[in-house]
Amino acid sequence: MIFSHVSVLSKEALEYWVRDDQGIYVDATVGAGGHSFQLLSQFPHVRLIAVDQDPTAIEAAKQRLETFSSRIIWIRANFRDLTDVLESSLHGQVSGILFDLGVSSPQFDDPRRGFTYQFDAALDMRMDPSNPVTAFRLVNMRSKEEIAQALREWGEERWAQRIAEFIVKAREQEPIRTTGQMVELVKAAIPASARRTGGHPARRTFQALRIWVNDELGALSQGLEGTQNLVGSHGRIVVISFHSLEDRIVKRMFRRWAEEQKGKILTKHPLLPADSEVQENPRARSAKLRAFERV
Ligand SMILES: C[S@@+](CC[C@H](N)C(=O)[O-])C[C@H]1O[C@@H](n2cnc3c(N)ncnc32)[C@H](O)[C@@H]1O
Repeated sequence: MIFSHVSVLSKEALEYWVRDDQGIYVDATVGAGGHSFQLLSQFPHVRLIAVDQDPTAIEAAKQRLETFSSRIIWIRANFRDLTDVLESSLHGQVSGILFDLGVSSPQFDDPRRGFTYQFDAALDMRMDPSNPVTAFRLVNMRSKEEIAQALREWGEERWAQRIAEFIVKAREQEPIRTTGQMVELVKAAIPASARRTGGHPARRTFQALRIWVNDELGALSQGLEGTQNLVGSHGRIVVISFHSLEDRIVKRMFRRWAEEQKGKILTKHPLLPADSEVQENPRARSAKLRAFERV
């Protein structure tokens, strides 16, 4: 498989991420290594701590960044645990940390991982293959109320209750094993008139399940909190988010830090990609970048 992923807001991310050309930087979501490649090629004296929870991403990024290997430390971990997994000697020494959230194109495009309604695959959706929680487990083992709540909260799905009812009814016959079965259930649950608007009918359900499986919002809050121990004076925290639930967490956290006088918000309004970037890379469509600088 070709592990290609077009980095979003690449130039802008670098401008905010780097303030010291001799510093130590953390890429909390190294993915295919795109942002880190820019960092290491433009700043020959910086060092990088490259983090991802997906071993496939780490392997791909290692290949892409091979020429810079002497300046990189690799860590396979969830960024929510960064404070624990990073040497305590590094605490307060980091000049900047970047979070480019969500899944990468190679994860999304690999049918075996079950992230998308575009292929029929096992209901998985784990970014970290050692995570015991899969979409299969949630869909088949959680209560109707929990499923409806997840679809409402993380998918902002108007038909959450009906979809949950259809899921519970279907699994009484046999377990729901595939993304294809899930798509059919969602289509059956949403009235035909409502199905004609708002893109693919299963989009919201799949977003909710992915967020649930990977506890994406919990990890984001915890990961952001952790940066306060790692990033030193004048260090930068940069986040690229892809939906409003993530962006809200980032916005509120930065605002709270500013009120607590921990530093200043560098982006009064979030930075959005230019039209030309969105045309070239549709994944950039919903991206928002926010940055914070510590005192
Ligand atoms: C959008 S991609 C990053 C792409 C990268 N910036 C690039 O330019 O190639 C997001 C990556 O973050 C990883 N990821 C998402 N949530 C994570 C978490 N909580 N901890 C660690 N890695 C995470 C995913 O596995 C994925 O590889």
